[in-house]
Amino acid sequence: MNRNRYVYVTTPIYYPNDKPHLGHAYTTILADIIARWFYLQGYNTFLLTGTDEHGLKLQREAEKRGKDPKTFVDEMSSIFRSYWDVLGIGYNRFIRTTDKDHEELVKYVLNKLLEKGYIYRGRYSGWYCSGCEKFYSEKEYIIENNTPICPIHKRPLEFIEEDTYFLRISEFRDYVLKILKEGDVVYPKQYAIEIASKIELEGLQDISIARPKSRVYWGIELPFDPNYTLYVWIDALLNYLTGIGYLKNIEEFTNYWSGAIQLIGKDILWFHTAIWFSILAMLGIPPPRKLLVHAYLTVKGHKMGKSLGNVISIEDTIKRYGNPEVVRFIIARIANYDKDTEVSWEIYDSIYNNDLLNNYGNLVRRVAVLAKRYINGNVERDLDEQFVRDIDELKNKAIENYNNLNISEAIKYTLDIAHNTNSYLNRREPWKEANPMKTIYTALEAIRITSLLLQPVMPNTIKTILNMLGVEIERNIKQFNFGYIEKYKVVEAPLPFRKIS
Ligand code: MSP
Repeated sequence: MNRNRYVYVTTPIYYPNDKPHLGHAYTTILADIIARWFYLQGYNTFLLTGTDEHGLKLQREAEKRGKDPKTFVDEMSSIFRSYWDVLGIGYNRFIRTTDKDHEELVKYVLNKLLEKGYIYRGRYSGWYCSGCEKFYSEKEYIIENNTPICPIHKRPLEFIEEDTYFLRISEFRDYVLKILKEGDVVYPKQYAIEIASKIELEGLQDISIARPKSRVYWGIELPFDPNYTLYVWIDALLNYLTGIGYLKNIEEFTNYWSGAIQLIGKDILWFHTAIWFSILAMLGIPPPRKLLVHAYLTVKGHKMGKSLGNVISIEDTIKRYGNPEVVRFIIARIANYDKDTEVSWEIYDSIYNNDLLNNYGNLVRRVAVLAKRYINGNVERDLDEQFVRDIDELKNKAIENYNNLNISEAIKYTLDIAHNTNSYLNRREPWKEANPMKTIYTALEAIRITSLLLQPVMPNTIKTILNMLGVEIERNIKQFNFGYIEKYKVVEAPLPFRKIS
């Protein structure tokens, strides 16, 4: 079994307390692009996304709306799912933490951890944010008018003191530090350093993993104490094991897990390092191959989110450009792991106009028209080696960046190929050439490679374009060679993007 040929891509599972916005779409689209990129090269891929349905936040939201929590999450979860369907997210499973197999897995794991001595009883007190589903330490919260405030939701924290169960993650302090400091799991590395410093400064304390049912009834019951439900974050993290059948098919699980690429926003870094790596270690499972962390989408400097009321809606964006795949392209183009990305309609429009309409879209249109007008759509292999040498380097950079998960860089190099090809046409003026075969064939090859590189981002749009040029998409890396196609049969001149109305 070739372990390297497996890729398992995960997104965070989202709280379905409201419909998704572009911030959620950001992670989900990037994850889908990564999965599709490896799929295109012939890997076995599995994309997991879903909804995180238990806990105080959902319990309260349901109560507020006068609904039973299960009815509420059923409705909301299917709304999430339909957004991802519209955005062309090719998930292999849409997991819900209320799924039966997930509940079984959670109970199995809890029993295992209890058996191994990692769970013990105790009393906990602290300041809690139900928006984050997290206790905040003194160093983390903000104080306003003598009241501790959540740094993310900017709302007062609640003081909670109760008997609970603890998870002994403190034992894994050195282990987690080693992964963070010496490993290359967390990407970009700055995030590993951030968490490592936090652990070195504050230590790694055991966490409270249970809630009295009298307070939080909406959760998975502890298999060894019916008076408690499980802390929602432990429930949620375990979805990554349920998703690829940890309890059902250990061989398949092991294969996919060896190629695990987990995407998260930087807000949930602590959970996915300190806590997640410890739980995995308790179960004897290695950390994921990669934990890919991205920064926020911001609007006028503030993290886009429901609680701050500054969301750009997915449907408005789709409506503006008339094609859901344009949303995917914009996200791919602006993705930034290290730094927050400011978004606005002006930024979106300029990306759409410059990259899609005037660069790539224009190239496709003009070359197809030339092919039809001057050589009847029948274009035979005649490669301009000299020009190809220039753009081959760009292609290699695009591929390398894709493989290293640097999506926006990969897209930039890809667009450079299109840009150079437009200039090539302006220089060669094939409409004046006695025999324009070489110029047109070479331009078509450049279009094909550009399109293949854009395929993970805009799968349907690209499929349509390539079909009009008479090309089928394969699943291998050799199709990325210039000169791969012997003959084009251009049947139609695509007009893939329209002016914004
Ligand atoms: N349910 C937890 C995750 C559990 S994973 C085991 C959760 N859910 S969430 O609905 O709040 O979604 C969090 C994720 O959405 C973030 O980590 C991030 O990936 C994405 N984003 C939400 N708003 C965002 C921005 N404004 N900008 C970038 N990403 C954003 O936390």
